Amino acid sequence: MCGIVGYIGKDKNTLRNLINSLKILEYRGYDSAGIAYVKNKTVKIIKEKGKIEALEKKINFNEDVTIGMGHTRWATHGEPSIVNSHPHKVGKITLVHNGIIENYEELKKLLKEFGYKFKSDTDTEVVCALIDKLYNEKKDLKKVLSKLVNLIKGSYAFSIISDDEPDTIYAIRKDSPLILALSNNGYYIASDVPAILNHTNKYILIDNDEIIELKKDNYFIYNSRLEPIQKKVSIFEGSINSSIKDGYSHFMLKEIHEEDKVIKDTMFPYIENGISSLIDKMPDLKKYENIDIVACGSAYHAGLIGKTLIEDYAKIPVNVEIASEYRYKTLFSNSKNLVILVSQSGETADTLSSLRIAKENNIDTLAIVNVVGSSIAREAKEVLYIKAGYEIAVATTKAYLAQIAMFSLIALNLGYINNLINDNQIEDIFNQIYKLPKLIKEVLNEDYSKIAKKIYKEKDIFFIGRKIDYPIAMEGSLKLKEIAYIHSEAYAAGELKHGTISLIQKNTPIIAIATDKNVFSKTISNIKEVKARGAYIIYLTTSNLNNELNFADTKIIVPQISPLLQTILAIIPLQLIAFETAKLKGCDIDKPRNLAKSVTVE
Ligand code: M6R
Repeated sequence: MCGIVGYIGKDKNTLRNLINSLKILEYRGYDSAGIAYVKNKTVKIIKEKGKIEALEKKINFNEDVTIGMGHTRWATHGEPSIVNSHPHKVGKITLVHNGIIENYEELKKLLKEFGYKFKSDTDTEVVCALIDKLYNEKKDLKKVLSKLVNLIKGSYAFSIISDDEPDTIYAIRKDSPLILALSNNGYYIASDVPAILNHTNKYILIDNDEIIELKKDNYFIYNSRLEPIQKKVSIFEGSINSSIKDGYSHFMLKEIHEEDKVIKDTMFPYIENGISSLIDKMPDLKKYENIDIVACGSAYHAGLIGKTLIEDYAKIPVNVEIASEYRYKTLFSNSKNLVILVSQSGETADTLSSLRIAKENNIDTLAIVNVVGSSIAREAKEVLYIKAGYEIAVATTKAYLAQIAMFSLIALNLGYINNLINDNQIEDIFNQIYKLPKLIKEVLNEDYSKIAKKIYKEKDIFFIGRKIDYPIAMEGSLKLKEIAYIHSEAYAAGELKHGTISLIQKNTPIIAIATDKNVFSKTISNIKEVKARGAYIIYLTTSNLNNELNFADTKIIVPQISPLLQTILAIIPLQLIAFETAKLKGCDIDKPRNLAKSVTVE
């Protein structure tokens, strides 16, 4: 959470550039923001509560500035306020921070004994004071930063300017992402690549404990022993288009409408040369006898779909865990066990920790990740990239879709190598994959606003489904909670009568998902049970199953396709219903309250 950016070079428009980069990083947190810059060798700080627009109004963009840094915050320690927002300044040190310092309370106590006084509730101000204290002793900021790693616990990416070196930016990271970008006009540091794409596509991924020293016309990277190191310069191949709305009212809507392309980009390379692509382009998974899937939020829901698909098509037992639980559970390592980590950002703290714990226990790891070069992608034994492109809206849509598509491919691969799917069946499924983008477009072209009108004033909504339709219900429910702020619960359809059905009253909306023909009649019975208690039924099913169901108050019919691919079509109406509902409620759809896209804290 939080985004940081810094610049030093010849471009005098630094203030405007910093603000533009912060706007791109705003998806990482947006409850307050601030910048620090150097003018006449003096560090100046401007901060404001709320979104970047609020900060922007306080800045005089006519000032010529060639060195500065900025921060957009997702509050962890202390409420969103000007005093708690970054940059923080203590003594000679000005600093912005993305991450969490876990031992800040003991450090704070110690620093108070040395006379430091604190204005904010943040962990960041404590580190700022610590650096200032060490700097006053050593008078060498690089040396201080190389020692810092032994003194602070937690995650961080810091950008630092010292009063004594107003022509230098220092930066250091541990477990929070940081890149260094090289442009013709100077150097940027940032929490991620889109933030710098208006200026350059050349960047260097900074690893844990590396220290950056940026001057106007040179940059240096050191390891923790302060030895200079050379690092590979990467070129970002994608386009800046991901960070513009392209005529859509919201990033979320744009991203949903990219889903047909996402399926082409993610799935087609694995089928383009027939079965050999599916086998050659995936790691060899034959030896694994059981699989754990570990993830958070929507990625966890994608994992639940992966479980059903892998169990049904490859007959391999799969256990799905929420990463924040997995990291503290007792692990039973065995060489036939594979842990699959799923993460759009590749930086989610709990998923990253789970990956590291699996590795410490000698368990093989496979990451399904969207962001190339992210921590999870770099640290996993194997990685499969989904090709969703940059996702800006905080609520994931296209990346989630690509995650479930990747699980379809994994299930297919495992089913084939375990001789459970034959060549004819593979060919049939490949043909259906080729049809998917067209079918997605059909689903996208439907109008879901009538359903939104029906539910947008509701306080409680239930989603129900059985088997693979249950995680679809969970994802639909999360989308609605996340962006439309409507309380909703997803239930395994057969479970309602064990307690929750007592909440069903006249007109309580139930969004019932029934796409799996094996449990169809069972789900229908459950729908009838709630209908009998007065519920308003919004019923989502497939064209082949849409038979005599005249008790549904509203129907959503998606085209029928192989059960391996059906969830890809089923989730899209639920994403659009959430979008339309949030729009009717006037919610801030791309940046829902209290959230951030990349959850880099535990
Ligand atoms: O980047 P990740 O896929 O690891 O993120 C996991 C969750 O934080 C994420 O899916 C979250 O639940 C989304 N905001 C839901 O739309």
